[in-house]
Amino acid sequence: MLILAFESSCDETSAAVVDMTDEHRLILSDRIASQIEIHKLYGGVVPEIAGRAHCEAISGLAYGALEDAKCTMDDIDAVAVTNHPGLIGALLVGVSFAKSLAWSYNKPLIAVQHIRGHVAANYLVHEDLKPPFLALVVSGGHTSIIDVRGYTDFVTIGRTRDDAAGEAFDKVGRKIGLPYPGGAEFDRLSYLGNKEALKLPSAAIAGDTLDVSFSGLKTFVINYLNTAAQKGESVSREDIAASFTNVVVKSLRNRVEKANKSLGYDKIVLAGGVAANSHLRASLAEYCENNSLKFYCPPNSLCGDNGAMIGAQAYYEFMAGNIADVSLNAYCTQR
Ligand code: KG4
Ligand code: ZN
Repeated sequence: MLILAFESSCDETSAAVVDMTDEHRLILSDRIASQIEIHKLYGGVVPEIAGRAHCEAISGLAYGALEDAKCTMDDIDAVAVTNHPGLIGALLVGVSFAKSLAWSYNKPLIAVQHIRGHVAANYLVHEDLKPPFLALVVSGGHTSIIDVRGYTDFVTIGRTRDDAAGEAFDKVGRKIGLPYPGGAEFDRLSYLGNKEALKLPSAAIAGDTLDVSFSGLKTFVINYLNTAAQKGESVSREDIAASFTNVVVKSLRNRVEKANKSLGYDKIVLAGGVAANSHLRASLAEYCENNSLKFYCPPNSLCGDNGAMIGAQAYYEFMAGNIADVSLNAYCTQR
């Protein structure tokens, strides 16, 4: 089944063609237009600017994705699009475009929840992966611990109560002078510092919960930097990066370990933009290795937002009978 899929929930516009069956899951094309250079100027994503940039990019990306996949709309079996959660003005561009395309070519339309899409990025590179499993989805907008019972049966069992993991990296990164988004540079800097230099509070909330909170941790670092500046003391960016990364990784690993103690799955899946973090990948891989669990993570190219992951999840939504129509809307919150 050939699916033309669109993603426009935040600051990447993407159109992709995937070939999905019960036997194979192939990426035929995955064109991505990043808006990072635009938003860098402001230190974060400006929603109105994101919406406009999606409008400018989406049509060319759609043509490009079809061309790369060496097919035309006649070959496409369905059109898929992320319709929530995300920035409303950004989502509406993808939803309106996909809706018009599906309607004018008389193709089925499939709506995909963005977080499910991130998880599905793993199906495109791990042939053997199928639910059930435990998933940790960490990105610039989301931090969720999910009991994935089936391809379309997701139960969120833990989440952030404030900032997302990527947002925390980006905000602390900005404070130590890294350009937006700071995640990847943070990762690199962390190797150069002492991870025990700062005693930071855990992001794992105590008690009978799997939730995390990054805002206290972030404020702790910001206060530390402000105090040092007032005293005229110099700080090591590398030590801050290493200490912050260490506590974020430990907190997330703690949540995964705690969650899987009760679920008892033999597979752990990592997904989302922050899944590119090498320290987090190594820590979860080690946990899985020590406990004879299989660990799955996409390559960096499929960790961030992309259309192929939306197409992959769309196949399973289609098979489950989840087909949308022209009344499809976009929603900023998770439904
Ligand atoms: O999934 P994504 O592209 O967008 C959302 O759905 O939010 O994730 C982007 C986030 C940004 O916050 C970025 O800083 C973070 O992923 N990120 C990283 C790394 N690479 C990207 N965070 C930590 N370490 C990395 N290596
Ligand atoms: Zn995302």
